Amino acid sequence: MIDSKMISDLFKRQLENIKNKELRKKVVEVWVEGCRRGNWKKVDELKKIPFSLLTESRGINLIEHTIAVTEMAVEMAKAQIRSYSKMVYEINIDYLYAGGLLHDVGKLIEIESDGKGGYRKSRAGKLTRHPISGAILAAECGVPEEVINIIACHSKEGEGRPQVVETIFIHQADFATFNPLVLKEKGLLIE
Ligand SMILES: [Fe+2]
Repeated sequence: MIDSKMISDLFKRQLENIKNKELRKKVVEVWVEGCRRGNWKKVDELKKIPFSLLTESRGINLIEHTIAVTEMAVEMAKAQIRSYSKMVYEINIDYLYAGGLLHDVGKLIEIESDGKGGYRKSRAGKLTRHPISGAILAAECGVPEEVINIIACHSKEGEGRPQVVETIFIHQADFATFNPLVLKEKGLLIE
């Protein structure tokens, strides 16, 4: 079983940056519950889950993707805060860390092993895509509604929908990791 200590170790640096202790604890709880529902039993298994089934993931796993998106979104926000003489909206860094760590937690339910070393969409994943299953899971664990907005709206589900500003940063960071691989797959990435 994957417990809270294992998840805390996995995302140590990012979790340490969440100032609100209760939020930090909830993020870990959501991951533990996601692993339980998705039937992932070992951390090593988590490190093999491809970050996406929509394009060739080229060995980039869900954990590295989660960390990259979280760090990228926070760096973008900090760069904006540093550069603007006056911020016209507030950016909550705790929400960025929590939302980054949780944006794809629904993939623990959406993706399953095919038993032959590969991965496929689970039945639950066909019924409910990861932004929705992740949002439900996080809401059940008592995560703040602003972070639920990040999870629910970080992908195409959020197009044209009301969003907190942190959702925009997570969305952009997410697609900055995804789009280069899509272009590469199509032979459109100039290298
Ligand atoms: Fe993602």
